[in-house]
Amino acid sequence: MHHRFAAAVLVLLIFLVALRAARAQSKTTDAKPHPWYQHAVFYEIYPRSFMDSNGDGIGDLNGIASRLDYLKDLGVDAIWIAPCFPSPQVDFGYDVSDYENIDPMYGTLADFDRLQKLGADHGIKIILDFVVNHTSDRHPWFTDSRASRTAPKRDWYIWRDGKGQGKDDGPPNNWISGFGGPAWQWDSATNQYYYHYFYVQQPDLNWRNPAVVDAMYGTTEWWYRRGVAGFRLDAVDSLFEDPALRDNPVLPGTNAFGDPTVEDKYTQRLPEVHTALQGLRVVANKYNAVLIGETWTDNVAQLKPYYGAANDELQMPMDLLLTKLKFSAPVFREHIDAVESTGEWPVFVIGNHDIQRSWNRYGDGHHNDQIAKDMAAMYLTLRGTPILYYGEEIGMQNNDPTRREDVKDPIGRLGWPKEKGRDGERTPMQWSDEPHAGFSTGTPWNAIPDTYKTYNVADELKDPSSILNWYKQLLALRRTSSALLDGEYVALNEEDPNVFSYLRKTKDDAVIVVINMSAAPQMFSFHLSPHLSVRSAETLLTTQPSLQNNSSVAQLSLEPFAVYIAALKK
Ligand code: NOJ
Ligand code: CA
Repeated sequence: MHHRFAAAVLVLLIFLVALRAARAQSKTTDAKPHPWYQHAVFYEIYPRSFMDSNGDGIGDLNGIASRLDYLKDLGVDAIWIAPCFPSPQVDFGYDVSDYENIDPMYGTLADFDRLQKLGADHGIKIILDFVVNHTSDRHPWFTDSRASRTAPKRDWYIWRDGKGQGKDDGPPNNWISGFGGPAWQWDSATNQYYYHYFYVQQPDLNWRNPAVVDAMYGTTEWWYRRGVAGFRLDAVDSLFEDPALRDNPVLPGTNAFGDPTVEDKYTQRLPEVHTALQGLRVVANKYNAVLIGETWTDNVAQLKPYYGAANDELQMPMDLLLTKLKFSAPVFREHIDAVESTGEWPVFVIGNHDIQRSWNRYGDGHHNDQIAKDMAAMYLTLRGTPILYYGEEIGMQNNDPTRREDVKDPIGRLGWPKEKGRDGERTPMQWSDEPHAGFSTGTPWNAIPDTYKTYNVADELKDPSSILNWYKQLLALRRTSSALLDGEYVALNEEDPNVFSYLRKTKDDAVIVVINMSAAPQMFSFHLSPHLSVRSAETLLTTQPSLQNNSSVAQLSLEPFAVYIAALKK
């Protein structure tokens, strides 16, 4: 009897505790919790170049697995792995011949599962790269498609007659490939042309065919069931083309490949793209997965529709515009203002595997390390989710080929010397000053610059003022600061031509970020009164030791390129 009474009391207690927990939970949900990807830090891995586990000179999945401790310690929550699926490697994996497997060069599906499991143990999610616009010409779908005009998968790709009956009559219209030359390839097996926005070996899928749409949605589901947390969608701008095949308007001049410059009016960003993205999002939502877009746009206004009119498309369309801007306070301020005015969740990127390394691109040739720290301070403290590119955190530099015969990326061979290709920004990760930068015991597939002897993980970890330790500190700060994670963005001192400064603030928390983007000392005045009243500052992070103990909210004397980040106290 006694026992029964005790048991009843225990059950009641458990019920009350559970009730309280549920109430507390509903309180936080009332405050609209951020979806997971908004508080996460993403990191792009080019799998050929991250870590080689078997000495063949090419990075692989087991190599990535062996470096998860490093990524966790850096403060990464999700890795986007550039395509690691079976591929003839014409475009280094962006020509996929099987969407539901791993290229033997990178490992096996079992290795993938192991990586994912280890990732989960480290709190690191896996994002795969889904090449939605095209397949490899060796994909069985295309093999079938090109076999005859009546093949079951003929209409999975874009086949058209030329201007006349024969090859010599020319392609259907003036569309050109982004990778040089005409976008139409004559196929003598069936005497028609097929469309390829990228290489000849990358035929575009026909997204107007519902069977293609089903197959592609199904592929994402296949990987979600395996545990991936989302996709980076390749080349989404080019998913659809004008069904009437109208000529693109021709502009003056020629590009690096010698082709006429054209406006991509009928081949890029057609409205139908949004329907395709909405469908991909419906599948993603079932798995709480995130869709990141490779969205090259001309301006911020073009980027906004990618979120979807009802927030039902990409959660994270990349702001690649930032990569085209020059390092300058007014230029960045203007861009950030434009991004903020859209009201969307920004996705800042400062580098990737297609463009020159950020260290070189923003650098002035004299202060590149300091500028790399300024860039990190800026984009890791702005509102939004950052995506780092491997090696950026140690100040890796481009290593462009100097001779055409050394170029590996086909566009570099075609466009030489104006277009040197993308080998330079895809060099092996620099882990140490050991041979081959500790990347491989074999000969690396791509040449490592000599600068690896000082720009490498092992040495930078030991140096408190290294770029790597700066990144680590910024990422650690972000993780614990509600102002940096959730706060609004308020531009400060908007007339200042040299110092970029802003507030990040919530109801109870305010952080100020001040970055001297000039090579000269600058005075910075706190003009805070229109925004909040504060009595003092408490330094959170700075590159300038003399500001470590600053508490003044009047003026700061900044050294060239100095960064000052402080909590503001009421
Ligand atoms: C964008 C990818 O980032 C790039 O590397 C690739 O060559 C093209 N899309 C074609 O897939
Ligand atoms: Ca390998």
